[in-house]
Amino acid sequence: MSKVLVFTDYGGPEHQELIEREVPEPGPGEIVIQVMAAGVNPADAKMRQGLFGTKRTLPSPMGLEASGIVTAVGEGVEAFAVGNEVLGSPAKGQGTFAEHAVLNAATTVAKPEEISFVDAAAIPVAGTAAYDVTHQVELEPGQSLLILGADGGVGLMAAQIGTVHQYRVIGVASASKRELVESTGATFVESGDGAADRVREVAPEGVDLVVDLVGGQALRDIAPVAKDTKNVITTADPATAEELGGAGVKRTQEALEKITGVIQYGLVDPNVGQRFSLADAQEAMAAVEGGHTAGKVVIEP
Ligand SMILES: NC(=O)c1ccc[n+]([C@@H]2O[C@H](COP(=O)([O-])OP(=O)(O)OC[C@H]3O[C@@H](n4cnc5c(N)ncnc54)[C@H](OP(=O)(O)O)[C@@H]3O)[C@@H](O)[C@H]2O)c1
Repeated sequence: MSKVLVFTDYGGPEHQELIEREVPEPGPGEIVIQVMAAGVNPADAKMRQGLFGTKRTLPSPMGLEASGIVTAVGEGVEAFAVGNEVLGSPAKGQGTFAEHAVLNAATTVAKPEEISFVDAAAIPVAGTAAYDVTHQVELEPGQSLLILGADGGVGLMAAQIGTVHQYRVIGVASASKRELVESTGATFVESGDGAADRVREVAPEGVDLVVDLVGGQALRDIAPVAKDTKNVITTADPATAEELGGAGVKRTQEALEKITGVIQYGLVDPNVGQRFSLADAQEAMAAVEGGHTAGKVVIEP
């Protein structure tokens, strides 16, 4: 038998449950892994709430990214063999907050030795999002990149990517995260009322690219600091960004290989801030759902 966190109905965290099931079998194009670590994302709660649709078969396994060791390989999969160390995303309808998870082989890559399982678990969703959102508009070295929500799972990696590219990075986050944000090479600006004015104090000419990881009113308040509002790119709130003249992040297939390489060479640290056991997976979900974590939250079965 094998444990997995599921949601039994769409709605709040009261629908989450840690259950036991048979060890799953891989279908065509799939692999099964013994999960070593799984990253927790705001999307896990959004999925449970039904914000991505309500068509999943219930109970539905939770978790959208993981690292682990291959234990079974499905028909047609040639890239992986039993015993390989990998990182990737679950197959359709599957989840990674589990002792064993079914991954889609097409969205899985080999885990480089230099990356720990815990760090690797932050790559398939948060790492690739950080890569895509910082590459959709290409800046030149010396140009300015503002990140709203710079202290979260995506934000800390996005800020480091900006520093690697020699952009002038400005990270907006709450006061208690100043040191964490500054550790990426970014200039820290405190979030909340008056944030746009504080950004103008450090960038009076405005910024070349706004990367939004928060959305809503915070995005509306900060967007005017962009020199050109078409350079407002969001992972969190495409509707508001588009209304303001910007865009939602376009996800790419190449991001997984690219950001894995960048992390392998030590240029970006996934900044895992909190680790939970699978037995405490609901606490891990609550930490991320609270919306104010520092870095990435990871579950280790
Ligand atoms: N489209 C995609 O493929 C994709 C992929 C990954 C993530 N996302 C989305 O991107 C967003 C960020 O993801 P994440 O994993 O980085 O989330 P996260 O780890 O929860 O980080 C969000 C950060 O924003 C900060 N924040 C909250 N309110 C703020 C405000 N008003 N002003 C400035 N900062 C504020 C929070 O901390 P403090 O308030 O304490 O500073 C928190 O650290 C989520 O909406 C997620 O669903 C989308």
